[in-house]
Amino acid sequence: MATTKKKGATQNRPGQSNKSQINELIDALNEDLAREYQAIIAYTVYSNILTGAEWMKIADELKLHTSEELQHAMIIADQIDYLGGKPTAVPKPVKLSDKAEEMIRFDLDNETETIKNYRQRIKQAEAIGHYALAEQLRKILVQEQEHQHDLATALGVDVPRVFEDGA
Ligand SMILES: [Fe+2]
Ligand SMILES: [Fe+2]
Repeated sequence: MATTKKKGATQNRPGQSNKSQINELIDALNEDLAREYQAIIAYTVYSNILTGAEWMKIADELKLHTSEELQHAMIIADQIDYLGGKPTAVPKPVKLSDKAEEMIRFDLDNETETIKNYRQRIKQAEAIGHYALAEQLRKILVQEQEHQHDLATALGVDVPRVFEDGA
């Protein structure tokens, strides 16, 4: 019969994860993990070298961010392992500056980049039906938005936009 579909290994059944989509997700999660390491290092260093009375409050907040970023790294590494991948050991580079304001600006830019990436990652996880990962990523995203807000507040600037339509 002409309408009968051939049996074939290349045919994806609904709900069946595509191997290449999983590999893409693993690679992207390793980029996320490298960004989490970058954040851990940056917050550890910045919170200790920030000087000046006006920066002391944000320095304390950066110390809190450090431990949250470590939790994120542990969750992402665990999920990479669950998907059959190997967690990276290499962080994204950390920029340094003698100026406190510049360091906070680097952090803010990194958080904005991280938020954009996690939004994308949630879509990828849902596309393959990995709802548990999507759920974990949503919780991380909430904390990243708090970090972004803390940094924007310390700099006295608007929270950078992350949505394509400019919101
Ligand atoms: Fe994080
Ligand atoms: Fe963060």
